[in-house]
Order: sequence, then C-alpha cells, then structure tokens
Amino acid sequence: TTPSLLILPGDGIGPEVMAEVRKVIDWYGAKRDLAFDVSEDLVGGCAYDKHGTPLHDDTMAKAQEVDAVLLGAVGGPQYDSLDFSLKPERGLLRLRKEMDLFANLRPAQCFDALADFSSLKKDVVAGLDIMIVRELTSGIYFGEPRGIIEEGNERVGINTQRYTESEIDRVARNAFELAMRRNKKLCSMEKANVMESGVLWREVVTEVGKDYPEVELSHMYADAGAMQLCRWPKQFDVIVTDNLFGDLLSDAAAMLTGSLGMLPSASLGAPMANGRPKAMYEPVHGSAPDIAGQGKANPIACVLSFAMALRYSFDQGEEATRLEKAIEKVLADGYRTADLLGEEGKDPVSTSQMGDAIIAALDAS
Ligand code: NAI
Ligand code: MG
Repeated sequence: TTPSLLILPGDGIGPEVMAEVRKVIDWYGAKRDLAFDVSEDLVGGCAYDKHGTPLHDDTMAKAQEVDAVLLGAVGGPQYDSLDFSLKPERGLLRLRKEMDLFANLRPAQCFDALADFSSLKKDVVAGLDIMIVRELTSGIYFGEPRGIIEEGNERVGINTQRYTESEIDRVARNAFELAMRRNKKLCSMEKANVMESGVLWREVVTEVGKDYPEVELSHMYADAGAMQLCRWPKQFDVIVTDNLFGDLLSDAAAMLTGSLGMLPSASLGAPMANGRPKAMYEPVHGSAPDIAGQGKANPIACVLSFAMALRYSFDQGEEATRLEKAIEKVLADGYRTADLLGEEGKDPVSTSQMGDAIIAALDAS
C-alpha cells in the first residue's frame, strides 16, 4: 500500500518551506516511482482562525492514522494574547502527547560547504554527523509535585525529576536501534553522581545494552558531555539523554553547525501495527514572523526533516541519502538563503529558488 503522510504546514514561514518540500515529494513520485498518499491540514494559529482551536479533533485523529506527520511551524505575534489552552503551541504539544512521541531525534550535521559558517574551528565541525536522542515526554518538565508554594515566609518553586524504568527502557531501545543503523556507538549522558534518576538511568541503559552487544556503549556525566561536545564533537555518534539535558545539549550541538534554517528533527513513538514507529518530523525552527511572507526562509531544515521521514518511517535510507547529497551539492555550488550569508550577506537566493536548486540536483543525481 502507498505510504501515507499528513502535512501540517502551520503558520508564518511554515507554509513557505513546506511548499518546497511538496516539490521534493512530487519529484519522488514522478522520478523515483515513490508515491505518497499525502493529505494536508491545519495546525496552530491558522487552525485557531478557522476552528477556534489550535488542533481540531479530526486532525488529531488523522495524525494517529498516517504513517508519518510532517509539520512546518506554528505561532505568531497575533496569537500571543490568546488564552494558554488556545495558543498555537498547544496544537503541537497535543500532537506530541497524544501520539506519545517519547524519543526526539536531533541530528547535528555539518555540511562541508558550511563549515566556515560555524562559530567553531573548521576542523572541529567539518564532516560532523552526530545524533542526539532526547527523552521527550517525562522527566523534570512533567514530574509531580510541581508548583510554587509558600514555605515559612517565602515562596518555593518546585519541579520534580522523575523517570520510571520503562520510560528509560523504551528511549534507550530507540537509541540502540538507531546506533545499530549507524556506527554502533552510543553514549548515554546523565548526572548519576548527584541525581537518583541518573543512577537508575545508567543502570537501565546498561541493562538494555545487553540486548545490543554489538553497540559500543559509554556513559558520561552530562556536564562533561557538554564540554566534550564543544571540544571534539566528532568523538560521538549517537547520544541518548533525558528531557532536560537533551534540551540543552541538542540546542548547543545544533549551533555547532550554523543556522537554525538547517536543522531537522524527528519525534518517534511506539511501533504501530505495521511495525513503523508513530512519527512526526519537523524543522527545529519556529514560524519566523520577522521574515514570513518575504520568500527569505531557508527550506532546508524542512526538506531534511522529510529526508528523516524517508529514512525512519518509510525505510528509504538510500533515497534519504540521495536527498541529503542533493542539498550538499546545492550548498557546495554556492546557493545560500539569507540566513546562510551572515552580516553583509550578498545575493541570497529565495526560498523557492533554493527548492528549485534542490530539485535540479536531484535530477542530476
Ligand atoms: P524562530 O525559530 O521562528 O526564529 C528565530 C530566528 O531565526 C528569526 O530571526 C528567524 O527569522 C530565523 N529563522 C528561523 N527559521 C528560519 C529559516 N528557516 N530560514 C531563515 N531564518 C530562519 O523562533 P522565534 O522567533 O523565537 O519564534 C517565532 C514564533 O515561532 C513564536 O510564535 C514561537 O512561539 C514559534 N515557535 C514555534 C516552534 C515550532 O513550531 N516548533 C519552535 C520555536 C518557536
Ligand atoms: Mg530548547
């Protein structure tokens, strides 16, 4: 059967970058005989405008049924004064929560042509290709008790770091599976020296590792990991860590490689009946209201998110590599959207010119 894909372009530059992904999807249908059953729907501010909610129940139901969801971005200043439950971001959070997407995959990949663009030395980042797996649905952002309480004559802010064995087990398995598909090297990061959840994390990851004897497993305290990521990131391949540390480490790792406009992500859940994981793919960036509607957005983060979908949801690793190579070629040929040009930025290409260049590179592949 034809694999199904739900596209949720969202707000701001979301629809602009997604239009370029549509070109890529059409190319695969026409030139590689790789057709997708694509449907499109609303999420975020645009869904609120139409339905009075950032995610309609019908859209949620559709997301549960398809093989993969591809999302652009949500949000915008016109929605800032909305009630918390109606904010565009709630649509995104509802998708993640109801699909139970517990593993967030954030690659940090440096295309050679952009190595000069990084804030780090070129030899530190050139050819970098690592993957951070962040636990996404538990930990200190969700643990109870939480809140601000009165204690004596002052207030106390409380959050609780809490992980069950099964929560650690499932994200660890996900990371080991990924390591098996890559270079069979996994580093787990926590703070077992000062945190009970870290002690349990290390124990469970080690236990899961026995099912993956081929994978070389190491452990590192997350603070040391942050340092090593900046010092010599190429020592890592796959990193698995909790929600809080993953938030920080993946943002830091992201900046090793340059622009927000280049960063894809995947959020995976449990396997569905067909064996594929529940999955949502999205660029890391937001709706960029400052450049929306001007044809300035870099579509590469969103196109790379589709490449991740090809690899992790549709078993098309070779086609994913073809797409990544096409992007590498376009960058090597000098195509740059404004975000990739830095300060004095001369002669940027537009969003659609970048998309067309990627299609031309695919044609030549
Ligand atoms: P942002 O990621 O939208 O923009 C940050 C900066 O990066 C801006 O200067 C923007 O122009 C630039 N930028 C982002 N993506 C780009 C691209 N593809 N090409 C070129 N330049 C790009 O983050 P910001 O400004 O903090 O948030 C704007 C809105 O997006 C807010 O409403 C926020 O809530 C929402 N947001 C949504 C996210 C999502 O849908 N996953 C994630 C982050 C923010
Ligand atoms: Mg963050």
